[in-house]
Amino acid sequence: MVVRYMGSKRTLAPNIAALINAEHPTATVLDAFAGMCAIGCQLAPKHRVIANDVHAFAATVARALLTTPGIRPERETAIAELTPSYSRNAAALAKTLRKRLDLEHQALARADDGDWRTLMRFTLDEIAKPTPRQLPGLPTEHEYQRRTRRVPFALFSMYYASAYFGVRQALEIDSLRYAIERASPENRDVYLYALIQACSHCVAAPGHFAQHLVPRDMANTMFIARMRRRSIVARFWAALSNLTIPACLHRAGNSVHRNDATTYLQELAINAPAEVDELVIYADPPYSKAQYSRYYHVLETLVLYDYPGATGKGRYRKQRFETNFSRAAQVESEMNQFVEAAAATGASLYLSYPRNGLLLRRRRTDLRDLMRNHYPRVRLAMTKALSHSTMGGAPGAATMNVIEDVYYGGWE
Ligand SMILES: C[S@@+](CC[C@H](N)C(=O)[O-])C[C@H]1O[C@@H](n2cnc3c(N)ncnc32)[C@H](O)[C@@H]1O
Repeated sequence: MVVRYMGSKRTLAPNIAALINAEHPTATVLDAFAGMCAIGCQLAPKHRVIANDVHAFAATVARALLTTPGIRPERETAIAELTPSYSRNAAALAKTLRKRLDLEHQALARADDGDWRTLMRFTLDEIAKPTPRQLPGLPTEHEYQRRTRRVPFALFSMYYASAYFGVRQALEIDSLRYAIERASPENRDVYLYALIQACSHCVAAPGHFAQHLVPRDMANTMFIARMRRRSIVARFWAALSNLTIPACLHRAGNSVHRNDATTYLQELAINAPAEVDELVIYADPPYSKAQYSRYYHVLETLVLYDYPGATGKGRYRKQRFETNFSRAAQVESEMNQFVEAAAATGASLYLSYPRNGLLLRRRRTDLRDLMRNHYPRVRLAMTKALSHSTMGGAPGAATMNVIEDVYYGGWE
């Protein structure tokens, strides 16, 4: 079960990893914009890997795969440590949500029999209420914000029920999230990664979280019904048992960071990572106007679980990171600063960028010229066709065939 991720290099990862391995077989590789860790996982069997991404959910995925503890918890262990806490949280939420759970259940059953209008009315009525929704008998949003680990965990039920997820699904997510918080620390990232996958597979949205679907006709209401019937819990267990954790050359030496990539490289230039003879940077920065913090805000909130406020129809986090890589007017100077910071670390750089990326589309800049300002040796190292998942981040089709170039900047 994979998370569909905008700009994923999953299909190209074996080629990119082989290229880096052939040219720098013993290097430690820093994946500066790790995303769902496609490149890190391919490199990890032969290289020490440092993964960085500005988002907490991406850092969680990288930790689950590349650092602690390297094994998937046995199903019996997982059941024993998650089930009691899950049940406690679910019971507390079910008490306050009982009526809405019943209405949703009936509406879904009727949709099965061809009456989709009941589900449409129920959903429209629900999403017309202010967000976050105060649940009877539970603390207020502000009380939860002051103590984000208060029980019962209720964030998804208050923020996203009947929007991205159903009422029952939100209860399941909150209760699993609570159980994960109480699980042994070495298993938490793996469990969270499985929950990230479960949420991605059940969301009533176009595959990302920039907006949820609103019922308007039979076709999309039936689609919402199909998503709402999916069990988060069942998908969580399926994700957990299918999780492949890569064999790592040096798991204890791998590390994961959550930082703006340029800032992180500027720090590395002063304070090099310990015990690294040769460092190579792989960079796969955002390449379109779609801000990842808007398209994946629900996953960020799932991991941070901080009751962040909710703005706009998409119920976005109030404060979310925005990158200049996704701003037409700033992308060139952002790229320039990034490459400058990479060169200042003394590391070679492999930079992935699609030919139709924001920077090249706007200004017809040749990335090699930009890189030559900072590296003495620059070349095009690889060119591959790639089907980019746009996830609605670009107008038109859900996937787009692009040519992806990988440029190399180095010293010899
Ligand atoms: C094109 S995606 C990387 C995809 C990744 N290679 C994969 O295959 O899954 C870009 C990533 O950069 C992250 N990001 C955006 N701005 C960033 C910044 N300024 N510093 C670090 N990471 C950033 C996003 O969260 C996103 O995961």
